[in-house]
Parts: sequence; structure tokens; C-alpha cells
Amino acid sequence: MNDDDFHGDNWKKYDFVKVDEKDPTKLRPSQDDIINELQLLTLGDWFPLDFRINQDQWRQDKELMRSLDYWRPFQPKKGVMNDRESVLVYGLEGDTPTATTGLSHFESKYGYKPKESDFNVPTEARDKVKSLKTFFDWFEPFGRTFLITLNQGGFYARHRDHWWITRDTIRLIGFLGNSNPSNLQWEVDGHIMSYMPGHIYYVNTAKIHRLSSWVHGCDMVVCNIPKTWTNILKLFNVLKNTH
Ligand SMILES: [Fe+2]
Repeated sequence: MNDDDFHGDNWKKYDFVKVDEKDPTKLRPSQDDIINELQLLTLGDWFPLDFRINQDQWRQDKELMRSLDYWRPFQPKKGVMNDRESVLVYGLEGDTPTATTGLSHFESKYGYKPKESDFNVPTEARDKVKSLKTFFDWFEPFGRTFLITLNQGGFYARHRDHWWITRDTIRLIGFLGNSNPSNLQWEVDGHIMSYMPGHIYYVNTAKIHRLSSWVHGCDMVVCNIPKTWTNILKLFNVLKNTH
């Protein structure tokens, strides 16, 4: 067995030992990283926030964005059937709602990967999503954020996102439209998750996760917010199940 067979393709991408030797500050966490990540870990990998999203309003918002032709295939891959469409809500300067929303797709298109927190400029879609206004107002400024709809058979295969605790943002996900635990199955760290439709959750997407949609119209808002102490405090202010 040669090295390529043993490691598989992805191992060729980064050599973290070399990255660390070249710039020792890149992968080593700062004190703020440790404080913020530890506080998040204490809360768990998956917990709801106290926002209630008006689903009737969401359906109107979705329809409006359909009539404005904002929806685009999400990270299409040649030869792979995966029915997903997205609308960019916070992106880079000059981005429109139809701009590329996936980070790896962005990388393959432009040859580099910006930070999640660089995508902090609202697109025209931001103010059109009335159902999420209170939520957007609460955490603004956001990092890369998009709406996504998974139709029947749409999926994300098992993966991790930003598994270094030097990550610059954390992930919040809201369940909209037909998303409920029967229609849209989420697995995190080997567990099938339960969740309330119309709610926003913190999700530790550094852990292995995958999702599968069994019906059309499983919608989500997928958000990055900067991993700052202020945002952790804001998160605490809207935690569900606290008194
Ligand atoms: Fe993910």
C-alpha cells in the first residue's frame, strides 16, 4: 500500500505540521479562543435560542425571493444529484443574493478561502426576509449567512466545519418551512437530533454531522456569527430553557 492509498485524497490538501512550523500563531488558540469555546462547550453541541419564527411570514418571504429569482443551486457537483438551492444574505462587498454561498465552492472558483467573518455585508435579501428581522437585528453584524432549501433527496454528507478552536465564527441554524425532525434528519456526533420547527439553534458543526431531507421544502437559515465574548453574552440573553 503506498502513502496515497493509505491517506486518501484529502490528506494531500494540508499538512498542519508544516502550517504550524511556518506560522506558529495560525493554529494555536488565543486566550479568547479558549474562553469562548469553553463557555460554548458548557452549553452543549446543540441548543435552542428563544426566537419564534413566524412560518406564514417565512413562506411569503420565500415566495417573494422566488419571484425575484434569488434562488440558485447550492454547490452543484457534476454527476451528483443533490437538490439544494440557496440565497446569500450576508456576503462580501458587492455580493448579490445570487452570489456563491458555499465556502469550498468559493475556494474552487476564486482560488482562496476568505474568513467566514469577512462575509459581513448584507445583500438585498437581508431586508426582504421579514420573518428573520428580529433575529438578524439581534446578532448583526453576521458572517457568511444564507438561506437554503433542501428538496426530497437533498443532503449534506458527513463532514466537519472549522474544527480548529481558532475558528473566527460560530454556527447558528434556523429551521423553517417543512423542516421538522421527520422531514429533515440531522445527525451530530453520531446522534439523531430532535428540534423544534421555527426555532434557531446553536450547532457545534466542528463535530461530525450530516443531514438528509425526505420531502421538498426543508428550509433553513445557516448563519455564522463572529466568535466574540459579546456574541456569547448575546447568546446567553436569548437562551431557551433558562430562567
Ligand atoms: Fe456543515
